[in-house]
Amino acid sequence: GPELAALVAGASVDVPDFPKPGVVFKDLMPLFADGEVFRRVIDGIVTHHGSDSFDVVAGVEARGFVLAAAIAYATGKGLVPIRKAGKLPRKALSASYALEYGEATLEVHEDAFIAGQRVLVADDVLATGGTAAAAMELVERAGGTVSGFSVLLELGFLDGRAKLAPRSVHALLTV
Ligand code: PRP
Ligand code: HPA
Repeated sequence: GPELAALVAGASVDVPDFPKPGVVFKDLMPLFADGEVFRRVIDGIVTHHGSDSFDVVAGVEARGFVLAAAIAYATGKGLVPIRKAGKLPRKALSASYALEYGEATLEVHEDAFIAGQRVLVADDVLATGGTAAAAMELVERAGGTVSGFSVLLELGFLDGRAKLAPRSVHALLTV
């Protein structure tokens, strides 16, 4: 609700021209640094999704790991890492994508999910949606099914949500 949106807004710091000229980077690290805010935000996310709508949480490297781990712990679910290229030790599936300020490749272990497992994908920011769409592709190629996306902050003007339809996207704050 509005209270959680205000917490995210209050913990977000605008950094002009990072990581490259023209991008105003919203730094959410202050949210994680404040124990009270971090806990209230995780409690809010868990309340929104409930424990019955998903079987496992997937976190997108690197900042998505922080959220996914907290959600997994709070709900008693497991965590599957979706990693940047070249980091996973076993056989992995790859998906390349464009993001707000560059290009990257994500990977997931091919045996990361049980067939039909419902996967909540967590990340800090939804910008162009390139990252989230690649994560969705990987989850579904690996046999899981995306039950929804959870982000702290959605940059609405980039319309990343359109790339994820018809999956549900929950953002605590949209700017
Ligand atoms: C950021 C952010 C999201 C993604 C959003 O991660 O944490 O994963 O970009 O952008 P998009 O919607 O345009 O794809 P980044 O790739 O900078 O990696 P990091 O978490 O390792 O810093
Ligand atoms: N802040 C943090 N992460 C991001 C952003 C941003 O503004 N854009 C894309 N990923």
